[in-house]
Amino acid sequence: MRHFNEISEVRQQLRKWRMAGERIAFVPTMGNLHRGHLRLIEQAQKHGQRVVVSIFVNPMQFNDQSDFEAYPNTLAQDGEKLSEAGVGALFLPSTEALYPEGHEGQSRVVVPGLSDILCGEHRPGHFVGVATVVAKLFNIVQPDVALFGEKDFQQLMVIRRMVDELCFPIEIIGVLTERESDGLAMSSRNSYLTAEQRQQAPLLYRVLTQAKSQLKLSTQSNETVEMQAIEVLQTGGFKVEYFTVRSAKDLSKAGVETQDLVIVAAAWLGKARLIDNIGLNLG
Ligand code: PAF
Repeated sequence: MRHFNEISEVRQQLRKWRMAGERIAFVPTMGNLHRGHLRLIEQAQKHGQRVVVSIFVNPMQFNDQSDFEAYPNTLAQDGEKLSEAGVGALFLPSTEALYPEGHEGQSRVVVPGLSDILCGEHRPGHFVGVATVVAKLFNIVQPDVALFGEKDFQQLMVIRRMVDELCFPIEIIGVLTERESDGLAMSSRNSYLTAEQRQQAPLLYRVLTQAKSQLKLSTQSNETVEMQAIEVLQTGGFKVEYFTVRSAKDLSKAGVETQDLVIVAAAWLGKARLIDNIGLNLG
């Protein structure tokens, strides 16, 4: 696996691969890699001859400086996992390389509406930071295809819209959420859970699954299902930010006529902010 810190160097390598007719599949990450990331890489290998992974903890998408500073750095282990997984290139830009003048005054990518609801409402500026850094990385790597986890459902939607509306010639692929055996969605933030909270954490997915079953029966309104779920989570020690039934097409509030649904949730357990979702089609 080749390592690159400089934009010009990674571009030079990618140009060679592209000229040799090889398809480039890209997996952007913030490091602290787990099985969920390895699944993205596995899928990426099906879509391109060369897989490029970036690790960059993007300061622009953190609305809380202490959260940014506490973000785990596991570069040595990450490098080993990526080489073992057969990744062709690892791009590790410095903050100065991506934001030479700092990120506050820099040009930004705004995906309006979608960025301001749910996680965007609770983490103001988060999706502007995500869209901006992903656009930069896309312009540097110029992949044929890029892969993102479905756990971050709203992020995936923001990126799909950005790519569509700004005409990036890149195919975006969403990859199924990788789960622990007890259902907990894999996330870098799970490492913030204490042993006791780790036991409580799978409740989030159990409640999502239960809500999905209730909605399938169509005997209760979405609001009732949401309220019951929030109560169960609160009793289980969670501080719920949102638990809501949405249209899987645009994340707007689902009405009685909406068939393609996604239940999205964000809740705190101690220092860990967990997000998860489950889809269902009533058609
Ligand atoms: O999902 C992530 O790890 C990040 O939000 C991403 C897409 C790498 C952008 O920094």
